[in-house]
Amino acid sequence: MSQSNPLKDRIELLRRLGVRYVSMEGQEPVVSGENPIPETPTLPSRPPSPMVEGESVAAPLGQTTSRVLSPEPTHRPQWLSATPESVQAMELIAFDQDICRCQKCPLGQTRKNFVFGMGNPLAEVMFVGEAPGADEDAQGLPFVGRAGQLLTKIIQSTNTWKREEVFICNVLKCRPPGNRTPLPEEVDQCRPYLEEQIQIIKPKLIMALGASAAQALLRTKDSVGKLRNKWHDFNGVPLRVTYHPAALLRFDGYKKDVWEDMKELTRKYVEMIPKNI
Ligand code: URA
Repeated sequence: MSQSNPLKDRIELLRRLGVRYVSMEGQEPVVSGENPIPETPTLPSRPPSPMVEGESVAAPLGQTTSRVLSPEPTHRPQWLSATPESVQAMELIAFDQDICRCQKCPLGQTRKNFVFGMGNPLAEVMFVGEAPGADEDAQGLPFVGRAGQLLTKIIQSTNTWKREEVFICNVLKCRPPGNRTPLPEEVDQCRPYLEEQIQIIKPKLIMALGASAAQALLRTKDSVGKLRNKWHDFNGVPLRVTYHPAALLRFDGYKKDVWEDMKELTRKYVEMIPKNI
């Protein structure tokens, strides 16, 4: 989005200062940096805003920084799982704030809630579905209905991740009426949001759940059957395709395939980060 966002500016500054972790206890974000600061930082001048008020001065050279940001723009959203707060969390919160009133397509008029996504901003794995259904639209959270409960079981069946450790989102952030398949123009409007989420989170692996997610991410019209059983590349991130949990609810026969796909996702993860095991 081209509009300026003071929170994003702040985050960019924090990144440049080497700040990696942000505590938001008591709704009052305190940011600390692990790395010595290379030079005494100067804050960019900007019109007075709640972000600038409440901020402490930069630490002297070589000391750990500790700055207080205004709590106002960084309320802890419902979708943020209980993990250490981070610059990525702030970026995601800012991005959500940027786009949550989206009216780029008619779904903006019919949705109850914009469904940004849910989980760990530092997730190593992202699961991407199609679009919110009725339950998700009502709660403003992805995969909270029957298919979502099954997705939680699928994720946790690997004994590698808990649901709250990964990040879950959809290609579309708004519910298509009657849960119809997203239209190509809706996918085209919404895809940049997903791409930005991936860019912020920088997962090590992506699992596309079902045809809509796989086709949107890989820009193909191929079926899940054709796209399964191989590794794809999404801007340098290995991507695997499996059946959507809702398809499993309809046809039990996909269970074995999804189990195989999850095993392969876990195998790849272990191969990529042996030091984590
Ligand atoms: N199906 C999806 O693709 N996403 C959800 O969030 C729920 C059901």
